[in-house]
Amino acid sequence: MHGRFITLEGGEGCGKSTQLKLLAEYLRSKGVEVVQTKEPGGTPEGQILRELLVTGDKDKLDAVSECLLYYADRRNHLVKVVWPALNEGKWVISDRYADSTEAYQYYGYDKRVELEVLQGLYRTVAGDFKPDLTLILDIEPEIGMGRSFAKAQTMAVKELRFESRQMDFHRNLRRGFLEIAKREPERCAVVDADADVQTVHERIVKIVEERLGI
Ligand code: TMP
Repeated sequence: MHGRFITLEGGEGCGKSTQLKLLAEYLRSKGVEVVQTKEPGGTPEGQILRELLVTGDKDKLDAVSECLLYYADRRNHLVKVVWPALNEGKWVISDRYADSTEAYQYYGYDKRVELEVLQGLYRTVAGDFKPDLTLILDIEPEIGMGRSFAKAQTMAVKELRFESRQMDFHRNLRRGFLEIAKREPERCAVVDADADVQTVHERIVKIVEERLGI
């Protein structure tokens, strides 16, 4: 595979989607062909899974079912979107990927699913394939949740299944992402996301330039 795979990760309201758009524009300005995508829901089938996963009662799915659904979405996304684009030399930027499963379904829920289960699912679904770079947008959960609820009020967002969890969940989540970054420093970079959009964008561009040599 010749393209590059970049993933953006972080808790609620960290600004991933805005930053993904800005990064894609920046890379295009440098002549890179970019595919913007997301999990869950990066394929038509994934949209159906997304609806199931991010709406409704927070306790409607048991932990293992939830992980299997995220991994079904992931496999379909890899096979239909990510791998074909990388094979064509394109760069793929995904709004969330496997670190979200570890952070939300393992750390967030205080380890209701064994880490080995998630790692086994990862190997089945993706083998040795990993992102070239994972940007973890780090923000205090209180600030991120404030942004997230403000957005929900102005846009009638109904995807609040995870936002409706207790603050502890969001603190665990943040700790989880930081653990992952510590464990895999070559792949991951933590970005301080508590700043204005342009400042965070400049931080991201610097990391991408340093790590991927654009
Ligand atoms: P979004 O906020 O980036 O649109 O993502 C949708 C929700 O799905 C978000 O609350 C995080 C959650 N999620 C998981 O819990 N596990 C996962 O593996 C992924 C990809 C997302």
